[in-house]
Amino acid sequence: MKRFLLGIGLLGVSLTVAILTARAVGIAAEEPSQEELEAGLWRDGKAVFSDWKLLDLFIPEQYARGYRPEQPVHYSHRLHVEQLKIECQYCHSGVNKSSYATVPSLETCMGCHKVVKQVTGATGESPEIKKLQEAWDAGKPIEWVPVNNLPEHVQFNHQRHVKAGVGCQNCHGQVQKMEVVERVSSLKMGFCVSCHRENGASIDCGVCHY
Ligand code: HEC
Ligand code: HEC
Ligand code: HEC
Ligand code: HEC
Ligand code: HEC
Repeated sequence: MKRFLLGIGLLGVSLTVAILTARAVGIAAEEPSQEELEAGLWRDGKAVFSDWKLLDLFIPEQYARGYRPEQPVHYSHRLHVEQLKIECQYCHSGVNKSSYATVPSLETCMGCHKVVKQVTGATGESPEIKKLQEAWDAGKPIEWVPVNNLPEHVQFNHQRHVKAGVGCQNCHGQVQKMEVVERVSSLKMGFCVSCHRENGASIDCGVCHY
């Protein structure tokens, strides 16, 4: 069994190397497709070894696309944003005034959930809303698990992007349709730099690195 797994692993590695080499060779020739831009491949011939999708299998889970940690309460963006039409800023109030978007405090939720205890069509109290009430009574916050993680040496700034008219979906995907939030973009350097280049934003190292 161990050998079998090792075999699969080696096959994966050699496939990756082969594909990356093929891609590296083709680089200067063609323009990147939209899909590749989203994938975060940096295509100017300097920093190519960034993140073809298969690499997501080899990097720590919390930095990979599709990362979707289990949250302490089942909070649905689809319900609150798409159905109830609550604006992103109502909960992520930092987006247009600070580097951090911020995740809402329990107080924001309780503004409604002191009253709303039941889901349409269900009988009795929602067990998920009950968790909110219990935390509130105990004076404890909900410990949401971060989804979009960046390494320590990178600095990001929400305010600057929002003020420049870059929509949340460019980086976070269709959050308003998500039942559970997941990481959609690679958030790799190539992903950031391609868009900066296209939009005339700075690509100085010091802008994104401490
Ligand atoms: C503006 C009002 C409002 C705010 C603010 C709000 N909710 Fe809700 N939420 C609702 C309503 C209304 C429902 C019930 C929808 C329905 O009828 O199905 C609901 C339903 C829920 C449910 C039940 C899901 C289920 O299937 O049992 C959970 C959990 C929940 N909200 C969590 C939260 C959390 C966490 C926050 C804060 C981050 C929050 N809500 C903020 C209005 C709100
Ligand atoms: C009613 C409150 C509420 C609204 C409205 C809301 N969110 Fe959220 N959002 C949350 C909560 C609570 C979390 C943390 C739990 C989770 O990840 O599901 C969160 C998490 C996120 C995350 C992941 C954060 C991380 O850890 O990386 C993103 C991205 C996000 N929201 C984007 C949006 C966008 C875009 C909109 C508007 C389309 C929006 N949210 C509207 C409450 C809200
Ligand atoms: C240009 C890409 C980009 C755009 C546009 C963007 N975000 Fe983010 N977002 C990120 C990155 C990168 C992180 C991780 C930041 C970190 O770890 O410092 C993040 C983190 C978050 C978080 C986690 C909490 C936090 O403050 O770090 C939330 C919530 C969030 N974004 C919501 C939003 C909302 C809502 C919008 C639109 C109003 C938005 N983002 C627009 C890239 C973006
Ligand atoms: C979809 C396009 C897009 C993506 C993706 C993007 N940015 Fe930006 N970014 C911009 C634009 C446009 C500006 C210019 C805003 C301005 O001129 O004020 C900007 C500005 C910035 C600034 C402020 C620059 C300064 O001159 O002070 C930082 C820091 C930054 N981005 C970091 C990042 C990081 C880190 C990522 C990747 C995780 C990223 N950006 C991804 C479009 C993008
Ligand atoms: C627009 C933002 C942005 C700019 C400009 C930028 N970087 Fe980065 N860089 C990132 C992000 C985001 C990461 C983390 C994700 C990753 O590893 O790709 C990163 C990662 C790195 C890493 C670590 C790579 C690894 O594999 O761990 C190095 C080294 C680096 N950058 C060097 C540079 C240098 C040198 C410059 C200037 C030529 C530069 N960066 C400009 C966003 C940027």
